Amino acid sequence: MTNELALITGASSGIGAAFARQLAERKVDLCITGRRVENLESIAAELREKHKVRVDVLVADLVTNDGIGKVEAWIRSNPSLSLLINNAGFGTRGLFANKPSGKYQEMITVHITAAMRLTSAALPEMIKAQRGAVINVSSVTAFMPLAGNAVYAGTKSFLNAFTQSLSFELKNTGVKMQLLAPGFTYSDFHKRPDYSKTNTYDVIPKFMWMNADDVARTSLRDLERNKLFCIPGTLNKLIAFAGRSGLAALGSKVMARRYKMPSK
Ligand SMILES: NC(=O)c1ccc[n+]([C@@H]2O[C@H](COP(=O)([O-])OP(=O)(O)OC[C@H]3O[C@@H](n4cnc5c(N)ncnc54)[C@H](OP(=O)(O)O)[C@@H]3O)[C@@H](O)[C@H]2O)c1
Repeated sequence: MTNELALITGASSGIGAAFARQLAERKVDLCITGRRVENLESIAAELREKHKVRVDVLVADLVTNDGIGKVEAWIRSNPSLSLLINNAGFGTRGLFANKPSGKYQEMITVHITAAMRLTSAALPEMIKAQRGAVINVSSVTAFMPLAGNAVYAGTKSFLNAFTQSLSFELKNTGVKMQLLAPGFTYSDFHKRPDYSKTNTYDVIPKFMWMNADDVARTSLRDLERNKLFCIPGTLNKLIAFAGRSGLAALGSKVMARRYKMPSK
């Protein structure tokens, strides 16, 4: 019997690497992608050695058309792909109007264009085989506005609407969709340059954080349970509930106080 096959974007650290480790433990063959080749090669070597699974490494910058094309080509040449995890992503901080739009365009490309194109590449074979799944890694910010993170909140909201809409279209095909909406998670996310000025780990209380392993484990468990929404952790569920019911406007006002243009 051949192993299942999964592709994870952004598997060089954090939630993506946790998915890779847990899937390999379940004897799932993998393709892991990202830009940091050393991280990817080291994770691949660890998983091949430990779990005797196939691990393809694909170095691809999803900001570029070539990078997305490279991953699409891998998907099309591996029709047995049964799980696609669109996980690659990054954050920015600060007032939208104070930054040039270039970084935001890159975010839209990684979070939206890449996820849409890779899903489009994967679905036809999954539908033909009447099995498979796509997990889109969004955020609790998918359910609410967030001053200081306007484009981030917008791209994650796109993933929310996109994933839910596809789940309706794919009913009766045997292909599952999941929107994974984590809250604060320990990973490399908050170590990136945009977050270097404030230490988010000091500012955000400990009880609000989860481990990447727990996030990935909850997602895979909820996929088995056919849940469209996976919101790991009780606190994040409450935040998402508040967002969906409109209550999060209160929380958003706190952020809006911190992130607003000075008055003249
Ligand atoms: N950490 C949190 O608090 C949190 C909360 C909610 C949602 N999320 C979401 O969870 C997902 C995973 O993030 P994480 O927390 O695990 O952070 P992370 O450790 O920084 O991982 C992000 C992954 O995305 C990849 N990536 C970023 N830009 C890329 C690009 N241009 N091309 C290809 N790959 C790219 C990175 O790979 P390379 O650097 O090797 O390219 C890395 O593997 C993201 O979508 C994020 O928005 C995170």
